[in-house]
Amino acid sequence: MSRRTVEGWLAELWPPAPWLAALRRASGRWPAPPFIDTPTDADLTVIADLHADAFSRGWSEAEIAALLADPGVAAVVARRASPYGTRRPVGFAITRAAADEAEVLTIAVHPRWRGCGVGRELLEALLRRHYADRIASVFLEVADDNAAAVALYRRLRFVVVGERRGYYAAGGGSAGHALVMRLDLR
Ligand SMILES: CC(C)(COP(=O)(O)OP(=O)(O)OC[C@H]1O[C@@H](n2cnc3c(N)ncnc32)[C@H](O)[C@@H]1OP(=O)(O)O)[C@@H](O)C(=O)NCCC(=O)NCCS
Repeated sequence: MSRRTVEGWLAELWPPAPWLAALRRASGRWPAPPFIDTPTDADLTVIADLHADAFSRGWSEAEIAALLADPGVAAVVARRASPYGTRRPVGFAITRAAADEAEVLTIAVHPRWRGCGVGRELLEALLRRHYADRIASVFLEVADDNAAAVALYRRLRFVVVGERRGYYAAGGGSAGHALVMRLDLR
């Protein structure tokens, strides 16, 4: 796990985790929703931490930096509008485009911010970009028992177009199975 800054700890302290989604639901506007932004090199540590928290196989900062340098890759972060002005990312998403197709490579939201609409906003931002770039279809693979991710993708109108049995050797999915999902943008 990479080094966490004091600023990062402060941003994670308030509001306490169980209150967050409830406060957002109740007030409709507080805490202020994270805003979508382009990642910079200063975000690599936080992105690596978010990825390591969400997946069994973490990506190093160097791996993420190499990925973001790929001209076909698009990435967004959701920054927290913090009272301390930290603007620390609470989620990120990465896609890769080739010809007229794109693929969702990864998406993760900090556990405290899940269920607040951050994942949907991250993907919608990338889908809008791909639509403007005349991408025809977006594909992804997801473990068949990842209910939150499957719900998010269905919400965005991805449909299941295939299954890869035994795709996750380390046991993700009910028996390591992946669903292949597709969204037609045109
Ligand atoms: C998958 C993930 C990115 C979703 O992000 P999120 O910010 O919690 O999702 P959102 O709040 O934007 O929810 C989007 C939709 O999915 C639904 N959803 C989200 N979590 C859900 C859950 N646990 N169960 C059922 N539905 C869920 C929401 O109800 C919402 O639909 P709505 O707009 O109709 O209410 C997040 O759970 C995560 O980071 N998981 C760990 C990493 C991961 O599995 N990534 C996907 C790899 S393929």
